[in-house]
Amino acid sequence: MLFQSIFLAAATLAPTALSCPQHTNAKRNVHLTTRQQVPPGTNVTQNDWAYEASFNWGKINPDYELCQTGTQQSPIALSLGNGLALNHVPTFKYNGSIAGNFYNWGYGPAFTVAHDEKAAEEDIDWTSHPSFTYDNETVYLKGWHIHAPADHSVGGDRSKAELHLVHVDAEGHEAAVMAIRLDPGNSNSTFFEQLPAMIGYTEMGVEEPTTVDFAPLLESVLYFNEFWTYQGSLTSPPCTEGIRWFVARQILFTGVDQMRAILGASTYSARAEQEVWQHRINE
Ligand SMILES: *[C@@H]1O[C@H](CO)[C@@H](O)[C@H](O)[C@H]1NC(C)=O
Ligand SMILES: *[C@@H]1O[C@H](CO)[C@@H](O)[C@H](O)[C@H]1NC(C)=O
Ligand SMILES: *[C@@H]1O[C@H](CO)[C@@H](O)[C@H](O)[C@H]1NC(C)=O
Repeated sequence: MLFQSIFLAAATLAPTALSCPQHTNAKRNVHLTTRQQVPPGTNVTQNDWAYEASFNWGKINPDYELCQTGTQQSPIALSLGNGLALNHVPTFKYNGSIAGNFYNWGYGPAFTVAHDEKAAEEDIDWTSHPSFTYDNETVYLKGWHIHAPADHSVGGDRSKAELHLVHVDAEGHEAAVMAIRLDPGNSNSTFFEQLPAMIGYTEMGVEEPTTVDFAPLLESVLYFNEFWTYQGSLTSPPCTEGIRWFVARQILFTGVDQMRAILGASTYSARAEQEVWQHRINE
């Protein structure tokens, strides 16, 4: 009974939240709709899953089969026992201030990079977005969003929240996620200080045009100078695989009030950790 009421509460509070946000609200003043949040290439039409039942995603919809049977599902537990990555070292081109929309994806604060308002989805010039390069591949920032608590545990410790920087290839297909763990510390984070007041999930559809300087974010984790990497998936249905994950060893520390504001705008959004299988950690 308790379980059921939690489930219903989550469904009511986040009626349009589907999957990790698709960050498709790049056009200014375009409000979130269910259609925008539907993962491309699937016939998902409504929010039929909940984090409280993430063990069951593969069974509730045929489109979510990978959630149950995939060999590289995310998140996974990491530790220094895995060593740190020596391969796939990223170099960033995250220049200056980036314009976009700040909003709530249904489970926490989020930001989508703006692009040409007139461009059709297939004409979007992703290569104009901030990017990073690893091996010979360049991927482009679509947006970021926060999960609380963190998806990835490290050495058995789970941070209060985790920020995911979602990157696509030049054609707009999701290709890589940079994960930064967030915990409360002694002083405010300059990255979070520049953002407007956190938008709660009861204000779904509210978007604030915002300009974000990513330098303080990357500086706080020393530009991923130490990280874990592995072959993984989206952490929500349809659990699509083929995503390269980068998890920063450094934690971004926020002020106590900043963390309380982030948590206040968030609702439970961590998928149960998956068994390590074909993830090729740090390979
Ligand atoms: C970033 O700066 C470099 C050189 O300073 C430039 O070539 C590149 O196009 C810029 N990228 C973005 C996303 O502004
Ligand atoms: C990158 O491309 C160069 C030239 O094509 C090639 O020699 C090199 O092996 C590639 N590196 C990786 C990591 O794929
Ligand atoms: C830190 O951030 C909190 C919440 O955003 C704010 O209320 C407070 O004034 C900030 N403290 C300092 C010292 O700037």
